[in-house]
Amino acid sequence: MRDNEGRVIDYLRISITDRCNLRCIYCMPEEGVKNICHEKILSYDEIARVCSVLARHGLKKIKITGGEPLVRKDAIVLIRKLKKISGITNVTITTNGVLLEQYYDDLIDAGIDAITVSLDTMKRDIYQKITRRDELERVLRGIEKAIREKKVRLKINCVCVTGIETQDILSLLNYAEHADVDIRFIEMMPIGLGKQFPFVSEEAIRKVIEEKYGKLTPYVKTRGNGPCKYYDVPGFIGKVGFISAVSHKFCDTCNRVRLTSDGFLKTCLQYDYGVYLKSLLEQKVSDGILWETMKTAIEQKPKAHHFDEEKIKSEDEIRGMSQIGG
Ligand code: 5AD
Ligand code: SF4
Repeated sequence: MRDNEGRVIDYLRISITDRCNLRCIYCMPEEGVKNICHEKILSYDEIARVCSVLARHGLKKIKITGGEPLVRKDAIVLIRKLKKISGITNVTITTNGVLLEQYYDDLIDAGIDAITVSLDTMKRDIYQKITRRDELERVLRGIEKAIREKKVRLKINCVCVTGIETQDILSLLNYAEHADVDIRFIEMMPIGLGKQFPFVSEEAIRKVIEEKYGKLTPYVKTRGNGPCKYYDVPGFIGKVGFISAVSHKFCDTCNRVRLTSDGFLKTCLQYDYGVYLKSLLEQKVSDGILWETMKTAIEQKPKAHHFDEEKIKSEDEIRGMSQIGG
C-alpha cells in the first residue's frame, strides 16, 4: 500500500493498552491517564483482523507497544496470533522492561523477532525521578537475561530528559561496548508532557560520546525498520543510533501508521488524521469495506510533521504518548 505521497506503508505500530506500570514524567502524570474502559479497547481478534486485512495489501512488520504492552493480559497470545498471519515477516515489541525477565521465555516461544527496552538511565535515583517508580533493578535483570540468552536482537531506547551528565546516559553505552546491543538516543518530541522539557539534540549527545569513545562512523547498511541512523563506535560490539524526529526530520521516508488501543488508525505521530475502526469491527463489516476505509485514511497520511513550527496546544491534543505508543 502507498499513500498519496508515494510512500510505501508496510509497518504498523499497535498500542495494545494505554496503561502502564511506570509514570515517566514526560509521558504520564503521576495519577496516570484516564484508562479507556475495557469494552472500548480492541480485542485481540479485532487487532488480528485489522492486521490480516492490511497484510493482504502489503503490511509486513508490526510493533507491539503501549502504554506498557506486557501489562495487558495475554499479550503473548496476541503476538502468537500475529506471527501466524500470512505476509507478516516481523513482529517486535517495545517494553519498559519491568516485566521482561518474567515474560522473556514466553516472548521467544511466541516467535517475537526483536525486543526494544526503553531505559533512560542506569542510576537508581534518576530512574526514580524519571519514572516515579523504583523498578530499575527489575529492568536490568530483564536486559541481562535478554543479553545472556541472545535469542533475538535487543535494542535500548533512551530519551534524554534531565541532561546528559545528570542522567549519565553514557553508562548505557556499556551494554553496546560489551554485547551485541544497540543503544538508540531518541530526541524528545513535543507531544503531550514531552513539550515541557528542554530539548537535547542528537549533536549534543554525539559530541559527548565522541569525547569519551572517539569518532562515530556512520554505519551504512540497512538496520531495522525505521528512521534510526546507526554509527560504529571504536571497539564496540553493538551500535549507537539516533532517532531525531526534531532535528533531522524523516517524514519523506516514513513507512508507518499506528493503531491505538481504542481502534484509531492514526496516520501521523503529530496530527489526528486517521479513522476509527472499532465500530466497523463491531458491526462485522466485510473485509472489503474495512480495507477501503483504511486505504482512504492511509492515502491521506500527512506529508510531514511540523514539530518545529506548530506546537499543538495541549488542550487540543487528543492523545499523549502513552496512547500512541511512540
Ligand atoms: N518524545 C520522545 N519519545 C518519547 N517516549 C515517550 N514520550 C516521548 C516523547 N515525548 C518514548 C518512551 C519509549 C517510547 C515508546 O517512546 O521513552 O522509549
Ligand atoms: Fe510507561 Fe513508556 Fe510512558 Fe514511561 S514512557 S510511562 S514506560 S508508557
